Amino acid sequence: MASPIYLDHHSTTPVDARVLDAMLPWFSSEYGNASNRTHAFGRNASAAVEQAREQLARALGARYSEIYFTSGATESNAIALQGAARRAPGAHLVTSAIEHRSVLDAMRRLEREGWRLTTLPVDRYGFVDPEEVQRALRPDTVVVSVMAANNEIGTIEPIARIGAAVRRSGALFHVDATQALGRVPIDVEAMSIDLLSLSAHKLHGPKGVGALYVRRRVQIDALVEGGGQERGLRPGTLNVPGIVGLGTACELALQSMHEDGDRIAALRDRLQQRLLEALDGVAVNGPMRDRIAANLSVTIDGVDADALLLGLPGLALSAGAACSSLQAKPSHVLEAIGATQAGIAAVLRFGIGRGNTLDEIEQAAHCVIERVRRLRRGP
Ligand SMILES: Cc1ncc(COP(=O)(O)O)c(C=O)c1O
Repeated sequence: MASPIYLDHHSTTPVDARVLDAMLPWFSSEYGNASNRTHAFGRNASAAVEQAREQLARALGARYSEIYFTSGATESNAIALQGAARRAPGAHLVTSAIEHRSVLDAMRRLEREGWRLTTLPVDRYGFVDPEEVQRALRPDTVVVSVMAANNEIGTIEPIARIGAAVRRSGALFHVDATQALGRVPIDVEAMSIDLLSLSAHKLHGPKGVGALYVRRRVQIDALVEGGGQERGLRPGTLNVPGIVGLGTACELALQSMHEDGDRIAALRDRLQQRLLEALDGVAVNGPMRDRIAANLSVTIDGVDADALLLGLPGLALSAGAACSSLQAKPSHVLEAIGATQAGIAAVLRFGIGRGNTLDEIEQAAHCVIERVRRLRRGP
C-alpha cells in the first residue's frame, strides 16, 4: 500500500536529506563530547556546535552568544518562563489564551505557586491585541509570552507591536516561534524580543533538539544543575548530531523561505478553494491574511472530524490540534476563537509542507470532498 499523503506539517516535518547528510558523521566517526576539548574529537564536535550556533543567530538577527541549545521548544519555553519568573517571586505574568500547552501549563503552574497571571483573550481570528497587552502590563510584570504563529489556525501575531509595548514597560518579552521560524521572518532586534523558543523538527530538522534565544544581559535561572554546559543555563552533554541538524535545517529554511512560502501558499489556497467550492457549510478558522502559508483549518458542519479521518486512510492530517491529541481535551485555541463544542469536533487541520505537490493536494481535496458527501448522506 502506498504511504499516506502527509499533510500534518504543524505536528512535525520529515528531516531534509541535506540535514540528514550533515548530521550523519556526528553519530559515528565524529563522536566527540563537545565539552571536552583536550583532543581532536571534542574540539571538532565543539566547532560543529559553534557553527550551528552561528547559523541560528543569523536566522534570528541575534549574536551567537545569545543562543542556548535545548531538547526542543517545550524545554525552551519552560526555561524561559520559569527561569524568568523565579527571579521575581509572586510577580505578574502575561500570556495569551491560544499559546501551546507548554506555555499555558507552565504559566498556570506558576500561578498555583503564587505568581499572578493575566491570560489575554484573542479575537475570532486568533489575534492578540497589542493595546490589550499594553493595558495588562503592571509595574511588577516580569514576563509576557505571546507566540509568533499559532499551531492550529496559523495566526501570525503582531509581535513587533507587542514587543514595543513590553519593552517600554521593562518586562521581558518571550516569543514561542516554533511554528514561525522558517515560515515568516523573525528579527529579535526589530521585534524587541528578549527570549525566544524554537524547535528543529518543525523545520525539516530532527526531533528532540531546539534552542532558546536569551538577549544579552537578561538574567534567568537554570532549571537543572549539571556540568556547566550552555553556560550553566542548560547543562547536560550536548546532542551534537541534533544541533548540527538544527543549524543546517535553519539555514536551509531561511534560504528557501520566500520560495517555499509562495509555493506552499498556492497549494493551500487551491485546497481551500476546492473545499469551499465543492462543499456547503465549510468555514476557514483563523485569518485570511497574516496566516502562515502552511495552515488550513476548516470546520465542516455536521461532520465528526475523527469519523472523517477514519475513512481517509490515504491522508495523514489532524482533527483539531495534533500537538495536544495525547490529551482528550477539546482544543483551547478553537474555544478561544469562539468555537462551540460541536464546531470543534468538526475541525480538520491541514499542514502543508515543502515536499507536497499539486497532485497530492488535488487528491487530498477529492478524498475529503467524497468522504464528507458520503458521511452527510448517512448510512
Ligand atoms: C507552538 C508550539 N510550541 C511548542 C511546541 C513544542 O515543541 P517540541 O515538540 O519541540 O517540544 C510545539 C509543537 O508541538 C508548538 O507547535
